[in-house]
Amino acid sequence: MNQPIVIAIDGPVASGKTAVGRLLAQRLGYKFLDTGLLYRAITLLALESGLDLSDEQCLVEMANPLPFEVSFDDAGEVSLFASGRDIAPFVNSPEVAEATSRVAVVLGVRMALLPLQRQIAEDGRVVMVGRDIGTVVVPKASFKLYLTASSEERTRRRYQEFLNQGRSVEYREVQEQLIQRDYRDEKRAVAPLRKAKDAKLLKTDGLTEIEVVQSIVELLENS
Ligand code: DC
Repeated sequence: MNQPIVIAIDGPVASGKTAVGRLLAQRLGYKFLDTGLLYRAITLLALESGLDLSDEQCLVEMANPLPFEVSFDDAGEVSLFASGRDIAPFVNSPEVAEATSRVAVVLGVRMALLPLQRQIAEDGRVVMVGRDIGTVVVPKASFKLYLTASSEERTRRRYQEFLNQGRSVEYREVQEQLIQRDYRDEKRAVAPLRKAKDAKLLKTDGLTEIEVVQSIVELLENS
């Protein structure tokens, strides 16, 4: 197989990109970076400091210099530390997720995260997932994929994920949040979620993660 250096996977909330990207990275022996974690980390730290999330200037100051460090372990998995504290366990709550889609619209925050993401891409052999990897972060990525699924399927997945984490959430609430987050991600002025022209489109409705990975490997083999 002609293995590309950077595999860029973009797509909406719960399109399967994180689970699939991680499995794909393991299969290829690549590093894996879910760039949503970086936006979530800034949001978590902003929330913990009691910042007003509508105050863009405060958010940008908080993001410069980046208030956390990223490293990869031997298995290619990322760790996030802020002032020596492992913050990864705290970034996945529904509250942080909802707030992150508001923080991610701020240009200065996106700019602050760009050099780190590009550096990781430059180091190579990495699967990067997000919303703007193929369009903005690594427009020259060797292989680009846009993963998506119907909003019903994505709501079911996200709801199940929360139940598996032992969180008590209403299906309807998850559905409303997903619709709102899609809207913010797609309509924002800066780096909105969209498929890069040269990205392959893969719809994941009804497919298992393993089946999606298999389809991607076939696309890679034929690219
Ligand atoms: O993929 P996720 O749910 O962890 O992303 C959290 C938020 O961050 C989501 O609202 C979109 C935003 N995001 C972004 O704007 N650009 C990225 N490359 C990754 C995530």
